[in-house]
Amino acid sequence: MSRMHSFSPLQFALTTSTASAITHKVPRRFFQSTAMTGLSRIKPAARVSGQKQDVWSIINEAAAASPKQPIVNMGQGFFGYNPPDFILNAAKEALDRVECNQYSPTKGRPRLKKAIADAYSPFWGRKIDPETEVTITTGANEGMLSAFMAFIEPGDEVIIFEPFFDQYISNIEMPGGKIVTVPLHPPSTGATRTSSAADWAVDFEELEKAITPKTKMIVLNTPHNPVGKVFSKKELQNIGHLCVKNEIIILSDEVYDRLYYVPFTRMSTLSPEIEALTITVGSAGKNFYATGWRVGWLMGPADLIKYVSAAHTRICYSSVSPLQEACAVGFEQASAQGFWDSTIHDMKSKMDRFNKVWDELGMPYSDPEGGYFVLVNMNKVKLPEDYPFPDHVASRPRDFKLAWFLIQEVGVAAIPPTEFYTDKNAHLAEDYVRFAVCKDDEVLEEAKNRLRGLKKYME
Ligand SMILES: Cc1ncc(COP(=O)(O)O)c(C=O)c1O
Repeated sequence: MSRMHSFSPLQFALTTSTASAITHKVPRRFFQSTAMTGLSRIKPAARVSGQKQDVWSIINEAAAASPKQPIVNMGQGFFGYNPPDFILNAAKEALDRVECNQYSPTKGRPRLKKAIADAYSPFWGRKIDPETEVTITTGANEGMLSAFMAFIEPGDEVIIFEPFFDQYISNIEMPGGKIVTVPLHPPSTGATRTSSAADWAVDFEELEKAITPKTKMIVLNTPHNPVGKVFSKKELQNIGHLCVKNEIIILSDEVYDRLYYVPFTRMSTLSPEIEALTITVGSAGKNFYATGWRVGWLMGPADLIKYVSAAHTRICYSSVSPLQEACAVGFEQASAQGFWDSTIHDMKSKMDRFNKVWDELGMPYSDPEGGYFVLVNMNKVKLPEDYPFPDHVASRPRDFKLAWFLIQEVGVAAIPPTEFYTDKNAHLAEDYVRFAVCKDDEVLEEAKNRLRGLKKYME
C-alpha cells in the first residue's frame, strides 16, 4: 500500500480494488496464526471456508505480475470520478452538523426517506409513504441481505438468474436459503456478431419448472449486471405473473435504475398484485457516483418493509448519517440540476466511446441497454497453447485465462463473468469478458489503445 502515494490515477484505480483483495485475505492470515498456535478448535465457519479464490484477488495478482505497468483497471464497477458538486458539498456541510455525526434512526434519516419517496412517487403513480414504505440500508447489498434475513428460513428456495451479482449467493445462504438458478441464454450468434443485450433471453418454461412449493423469493436485476439487459415490460409481466400465481416475493434489484438507454420498466409499477409482492432495491452509491458511501434503500409494501427494517436493525443498527443527508440533497435537487438526464447521456457516451474499439477490431459484444458494464465475446482471441497460466487460473474456465492474458499482454484489467455463474452453466459465458466503463474518458482512450494490441492474437 505504501506505493500508493506515487501512483498515477490509472494505478490508483487498481489499488482501490487491491484494498478489497486485502480484506479478503484477512481471515486467511487469522487462520494461519491460530493453526500455528495450535488452537485446533478454532475453525472457520463453512460459509467462509473452502471458497474458491475470489475473482478480485486473482485479478489483483495478475495485475501485480504484469509487465505492463500501470494497469488500466476496467474491472470493478466503481467510478473513476467524483459525485457532482451539489452532492459533494452537501456531504461536507453535513459533517459540520452535530446531529449528522450521530446514529441515524434505524430505518434511515427522515429527510432521505422523504426525498426518495418524493423522487419515486411519480413512477409509482401514487404517493409513497416515507415512514412505512422506504427503509435506508448500508448500500443495496446490506439491504438485500436484510431482505433475505427477513423472509428466508433454512431450506427455503430463492430463484436467481445467471449470471448473478456475486453477493446474492452468500446473502441467500447466510439465513440458510437454497439457491436455484435459471440462466439468461446468450444469443446463439454471440461469438460472431454484436447484438443487443436484450437478446440474452429467459426461457419461461425453465423458470416455471424451477418454482417449487419451497420457492419463497426470486431476485431480478434490471438493468442487469453484467449483461446490460433491461428486462422488457413483457418479460417482467411474465415473471410477475408467475410470482403472483405462486405467491413469491420479488426482490427487484434496480440499482442501475438511472442508467438506461432503452425504455425502462420498474417491476413494482406493473400491477397492484405485483406491487404487493415486490421489494425494490436502490443504491445511492450507484445513482450518485459514490459507491464508497454505502447508502442504499429498499422500497415496498409496508407489511414487507417492516420485517426488512427489523433485520437491518439487527445487522448493523443504522447506516452512515452524514452521507444519508448528502444523498437526500441529491434526490431533492437531481431533477432541477438536470442530473438524471446528464447521467444517462454521459454514461451512454462513455459506452459508445469505449465500444468503438470492438467495432474496429471486429470483436462482437452485447450492446448494453443499461448500466455501465459491457460483455465482450473474445472467442476470436487465440490463447497460445503453451501460455504460462498459473495453475489456479489454468483450472478455471476460459474467461479467467482471457482476463489473465489481457492483463499480462495488453495491461487492461477486466472481469471473467463465469464468476457470476454456477459451475453447471459457466460454459455459457466462458468466451466473454466484462469491462466497466464508468471511468474518465482518458482512461477509456488508454484502454482502447492497449486493446488494439489484441489484433495480433485474433484469428
Ligand atoms: C446488481 C448489483 N446489485 C447490487 C449491488 C450493490 O450495490 P451497493 O454498492 O449499493 O451495495 C451491485 C454493485 O455492484 C450490483 O452490481
